[in-house]
Amino acid sequence: MMVEKFGGAIASALTASIRLYGVCIALMLSVFTMNAALAGGVPSAEDDGTISPAEAAKMIASPASAAAGEGLFNQVCTYCHGAKGVGGRGRKMQCRHYDASYLYNTISNGKRSGSLVMPAWKQSYSERTRWELVSYIMTLKNLDSCQ
Ligand code: HEC
Repeated sequence: MMVEKFGGAIASALTASIRLYGVCIALMLSVFTMNAALAGGVPSAEDDGTISPAEAAKMIASPASAAAGEGLFNQVCTYCHGAKGVGGRGRKMQCRHYDASYLYNTISNGKRSGSLVMPAWKQSYSERTRWELVSYIMTLKNLDSCQ
């Protein structure tokens, strides 16, 4: 009788802790998806090899890709880089002759300059989106003010 009661107590304590564990996992998952939603991207969009070098080259030359990149740049990047990359917390990106893969890697992995830190964007944005950003930044050397 005593043993049975004891066993029952252990069993219910166990079920309770399993339940608690389940709630924790559910909470963790919802925080994760919320973060992904806040970042505005698909979770774990890290380099998945969807964009070949040839396609990246096409996107860099494509006004449509640059326009898509500009839209996102205006929402997310101007806070630190200024309108049309005029500069601010990050340095001026206008009239500079960048190497496309340098831009891509920097956007993907982030950069720091003293106490100023740019986060890595590869968890937030797909390869395609990051190349669109590159495509847009590459156009900033053609602004009228650069002539
Ligand atoms: C929280 C501020 C912040 C935000 C937001 C931000 N950056 Fe940066 N970025 C920086 C800092 C700081 C640097 C390092 C200093 C520098 O090189 O300009 C940097 C550097 C860069 C560089 C390298 C520039 C160079 O000349 O070497 C690129 C490219 C860049 N950011 C692109 C972006 C893009 C694209 C976005 C939007 C998706 C973005 N950044 C959003 C702060 C930011």
